[in-house]
Amino acid sequence: MASSKRDLISIEDLSDGEIEEIFDLADTMLPENRGPAQAGALGGKIMATLFYEPSTRTRLSFESSMQRLGGSVISCPDMKSSSAAKGETIADTARVVSSYADVLVVRHYWDGAAQAMAEYADVSVINAGDGSHEHPTQTLCDLYTLKKEKGDLKGLTVVICGDLKHGRTIHSLVYALARFGVNVVTLAAGGMALPQYVIEKLERERHYNLTPVSSDDLQAAMAETDALYLTPKQPHQLALFTQVDQDLQGRIKSMAAGLKFDAFYVTRKQKERMKQGNGEETAGYPSLGEGFLKEQRFKDTVVMHPLPRVDELSPAIDKDRRGIYFKQAAYGVPIRMALLKFLLSPSGVAKGRAPEKKRSLYESPESISPQCANANCVTRTESLSARPSFELLFSGPGGALILRCSYCNHQLRVEYVGHTGSRRYCLYDLSLEETFTGWLKRGELAIFDSIKQAEELGYEPYKSGAQRSILGEEEIRSAIQRMAEQIFNESENSERLVLLGVKTKGAVLARRIAAEIEVSHRGKIEVAEIEIFGSEEGIHRISEPGADAEPLSIKGRPVVIVDDVIYTGRTAKSALSIIFKAGRPRSVRLAVLVDRGHREVPVKPNYVGKHIPSSEKERVRVKLREVEQDEGDKVVIYSIISPEKSDQQSAVSS
Ligand code: CP
Repeated sequence: MASSKRDLISIEDLSDGEIEEIFDLADTMLPENRGPAQAGALGGKIMATLFYEPSTRTRLSFESSMQRLGGSVISCPDMKSSSAAKGETIADTARVVSSYADVLVVRHYWDGAAQAMAEYADVSVINAGDGSHEHPTQTLCDLYTLKKEKGDLKGLTVVICGDLKHGRTIHSLVYALARFGVNVVTLAAGGMALPQYVIEKLERERHYNLTPVSSDDLQAAMAETDALYLTPKQPHQLALFTQVDQDLQGRIKSMAAGLKFDAFYVTRKQKERMKQGNGEETAGYPSLGEGFLKEQRFKDTVVMHPLPRVDELSPAIDKDRRGIYFKQAAYGVPIRMALLKFLLSPSGVAKGRAPEKKRSLYESPESISPQCANANCVTRTESLSARPSFELLFSGPGGALILRCSYCNHQLRVEYVGHTGSRRYCLYDLSLEETFTGWLKRGELAIFDSIKQAEELGYEPYKSGAQRSILGEEEIRSAIQRMAEQIFNESENSERLVLLGVKTKGAVLARRIAAEIEVSHRGKIEVAEIEIFGSEEGIHRISEPGADAEPLSIKGRPVVIVDDVIYTGRTAKSALSIIFKAGRPRSVRLAVLVDRGHREVPVKPNYVGKHIPSSEKERVRVKLREVEQDEGDKVVIYSIISPEKSDQQSAVSS
C-alpha cells in the first residue's frame, strides 16, 4: 500500500484548515473563475468510479470534475455488470482497479465498505457514501454552500430534519457543524433519531451535548413535534435531570424561543435502508411546506437538501431565494474539482500529515472476535475484506469498556475479557482498567461476546473474591413492592405511565414493579425495554407474541427508568438521551434496586430499593432468577482483585 496516499473516508479525515483550503481552491474552480490552469491541472490522471448504489449528483459531478481538470474517467455503468456480480470481494476489486486508476471514488450499500477498499487500494479512495455511515464529500458541498450564503459558520443554528438515523449525509454533516461551532437542532421523524453512537462521539470528542427544546417555533413550518438541540454552549446539562419539571419545561421553552434558525437541512426518508416490519417505512415524516414561506421569523432561513427529494420538500420553495438546494448540488463540481486537485496534484497533495487515524485499534488475538453491533457493517457482510477492529473507549456508561467499530463507528459494550497467556477470562470491571490496558499493550487482551465464546476457545473463569449476600429473595420482593407503591402514588396519570427497564435486568425489574402495581391497583401498566448498546439500540415494547408491534410512543407520558444498580450514573444519562430522542415525555424518574454511590454524573434516583455504599474495588451484582435461570434472587457484593492475584489466592469462586 502506498504510504503517501491520502483517502477521504470520513469528514474527520480532513482537518479544519484543510477544509478551508479546499474551499479556497473551490473558489478558483467556480465557472466564472475557471481558466487554463484548472483545465490541465490533472492531465494524465485517471479516476475510477465504483458505484454499487444509484447516484446522480455525486457520480456525475465527480466525473464532470475530473474531466474539467483534464483527467479522464473509467467506470462500470452498473456494478451488477462488474465481477462483483460473480462474487468478487471488494478487497480484490480495490487491488485490481487501483492498478488501472489514480483515484477510486466508491459508493457502497455497506457501512465501512469504502474504508475496507482503502485498506487494499494502492491509490487514494474517496467515500461517495457508504451505507448509513458517512458521505463526506456531500458535507463539503453543504458547508461550502452554507458559508457562501451566511458567511462565518460559527454561531449559526441549523435545523436538521427527517431521517437522521439512516441519513449518511446527516452523520458527516453534524460532525462538521460541531467542529465549526454551529448549533444543531435535530428534528427527527418518529423512530429515526440521530443514532446514539453519533451523539456520544459528539459528546466525547467535541463536548457537544444534546438538549431538548420545544418545537413550537418550528411547527408553523414543519409538521413535526419534538426537537433536540446540540450545542457547545450553556445550558447543556439539562439532559441530566431525571425529573422534567415545570421549571425545566419553562427553561426549555424560553431557550427555543430565543433560537434564530439560519438553515433548515431537509432529508428524504431512506426507505432502502429500513428493516421491513418495524413500522419505519410507514411512520409519519416531517415535511417543509409552503407555510414556511409565509412565516416572518424564517425570512432569512435558507433551505438545504442533499437531494434527491421525494415529498418532504414542497416545490413551492424552489423559486424562492431561500431554497438553495439546486445551488448546493451545483457546487458539487467546484468542490469535487478542488478535492481531486487537493488529493492528486503535486502542488495540492495533503501538505503535512493526514489526521492520525488507526490509533491503537483493537483486533482480537484469537480466531473468534467480537462482532460489530451493526448488521450492515462490512465486517459482518464481507469479513474476507474487513476483519473486525475497534477503538477501545474506557469508562463508557456505567464505567463500561466500549468498543467502537473502526469501519462504521457503531458501539458495543464489552462483557468478558480474557488473558491469552493464562487462558483465563472474567467479567470486565472498571477497577481493573490498568490490568487490562497492560494486556492490551502486550497484545494479550482477548474480548468475548459471551461466556460460551470464551469457553469455546478453551478459556476458564478467573476466580473472583468471596461474595457476601446483601439482599435476599424476601428483601428484594419487599423493595420492589415499596418502589411500586411509591411510583404509583407519585404518578399523576398512572394509565399513561411507562416503566422503561434497562436491558436486561432493569427490564425484568420493571416487569415485576408493573405486576405489583397491577395487582394492588387493578390497572394495566405499560412496560418497555431500553437498549443502550447493540444492534437494537433504542426503546422497544415488551410485547406478547402476536401483539401489535407498533413503535411505543412516550411523548407527553410519565416515564420511570428502571435499572438494577446505579454506579457512575452514565447509563441513566445515556438512557435519558435515548428517551428524549424518542419524543419529549411529561416526566422522567429513575428507580434502581441498589444505589451504590461513586457517581461520575449528577443523577439522583427517585426510588431506591437499598443504598449500599461500597468502595471502588467492590462490585455489586444483582442476580435475578429470570436471568440467572438456575438461581433464586439475591444481591451480592464482592471485592475486585486483579485476575493475576486471584489465581494465587484461595478465594471462593462464584
Ligand atoms: N446527494 C447525493 O448523494 O445525491 P446522489 O445520490 O444523486 O449522488
